[in-house]
Amino acid sequence: MTLLLLAGTGEARAIAVALQGRDVIASLAGVTREPEPLAVPVRQGGFGGETEFRAFLAEAGIHAVLDATHPYAARITARSAAVCAALGVPFCQVLRPAWVPEAGDLWTEIATEADAAAHIPLGATVFLGTGRQSLPGFANLAGRRVICRQIDPPEGPFPFAGGEFLVGRPPFSVADETALFRRLGVDWLVVKNAGGQASATKLTAARALGIPVLMLARPAPGDWHRVETVTAALDWVGRCG
Ligand SMILES: NC(=O)c1ccc[n+]([C@@H]2O[C@H](COP(=O)([O-])OP(=O)(O)OC[C@H]3O[C@@H](n4cnc5c(N)ncnc54)[C@H](OP(=O)(O)O)[C@@H]3O)[C@@H](O)[C@H]2O)c1
Repeated sequence: MTLLLLAGTGEARAIAVALQGRDVIASLAGVTREPEPLAVPVRQGGFGGETEFRAFLAEAGIHAVLDATHPYAARITARSAAVCAALGVPFCQVLRPAWVPEAGDLWTEIATEADAAAHIPLGATVFLGTGRQSLPGFANLAGRRVICRQIDPPEGPFPFAGGEFLVGRPPFSVADETALFRRLGVDWLVVKNAGGQASATKLTAARALGIPVLMLARPAPGDWHRVETVTAALDWVGRCG
């Protein structure tokens, strides 16, 4: 059985380690210039659209697709699920449980990036932990000091006035995040509800510092098979044969 592992997360890396030596092809979108290595062969870059994705599945002889992409990578997940359903190829998404607020958290959920401006006053310092791909959606935050953290060095100027890039590769400890938010004088934090331990440290830091958090809502879950953990994903692979 040849498995296509749609990657781009820590879960995908862990699954690749567990399936090392098996017939697995991992796929990365190519958004990070020097991605962390994976323990199985990797193809890189978008497939080029649905038709090309279908062609790839046929040419590579894919028998099952395990989608371990990020919870907010909604397009690749929905398309892969739909194509697999149409072709009768087993499909499973690995989706970490969302974070839930704890005592002391000051979270407000927002539906879209553009909704952040209604909550954050002019002149405030805003830390975007949402990644550079989401940045265009925050353009109406001009008038605030917007700090956008990304893994790769920026390729151009910040796309709107008052913003700056901060380069950093996760993981970040609670102590790192707390010191960073203090140093930058962060008034507001904007994040995606990614779930998982590794990137929850910024929320712990925000709680300790009393920083309000705008939480971008997760994409609506689709009608396809999903599991929450690496262990459950590996069980599913085992059942695929
Ligand atoms: N969205 C986030 O916040 C976030 C955070 C951390 C990591 N990531 C990772 O970054 C990648 C891109 O995220 P996104 O939000 O831009 O995805 P997306 O909006 O769901 O997908 C956009 C396009 O990127 C390509 N793509 C996405 N994941 C791919 C994969 N694993 N292998 C090959 N092509 C892929 C596909 O291009 P074609 O149509 O050309 O096939 C897809 O149509 C994902 O793999 C995701 O796991 C995303």
